[in-house]
Amino acid sequence: MKYKLILTLILSTVAFNASADKTNAIRLEQRYVTLANSINPSYSNASSVEGKVFFNRKFKLANGKEIACASCHTTNPANVGKNIVTGKSIQPLSPITNPKRFTDLEKVEDEFTKHCNDILGTDCLPSEKANFIAYLLTEYTPTK
Ligand code: HEC
Repeated sequence: MKYKLILTLILSTVAFNASADKTNAIRLEQRYVTLANSINPSYSNASSVEGKVFFNRKFKLANGKEIACASCHTTNPANVGKNIVTGKSIQPLSPITNPKRFTDLEKVEDEFTKHCNDILGTDCLPSEKANFIAYLLTEYTPTK
């Protein structure tokens, strides 16, 4: 009995990894929704529409420059982006066009926080993160 449980666990891990791309993104979105909901009980669902607004919103940096997530990641997260600072290309953020995204959730959470601090000067709200992931999951088609 115990043996069978272990085997089931191993098998489900394999199955999980095979579809880690979207499944993991959805899991992380849910994690942020739960967090956001504990802060603001009226927030119960991630909004891809809000996520899109957030992605394109311009934030003022300390040096006065305005920058949006879209400045480097382009207005379509399914596209290959370009770092406006280094000029290097950035693989698509969308877990649908780039299956490597969201494979390691702990890493993504760390990167996300670091990133928000760089751009907004503070961490993003859990609701902003949930909305952002919801938006990523709606962009299937690269435009170039
Ligand atoms: C100055 C350019 C730049 C801007 C602006 C920018 N990013 Fe990024 N972003 C990067 C680079 C570079 C990487 C790392 C390269 C990679 O993972 O391919 C990255 C990676 C990420 C990841 C990767 C997570 C992972 O490890 O799979 C997420 C999520 C992300 N950015 C979200 C955002 C959000 C949200 C904003 C707006 C608040 C934003 N980015 C603005 C350049 C930028």
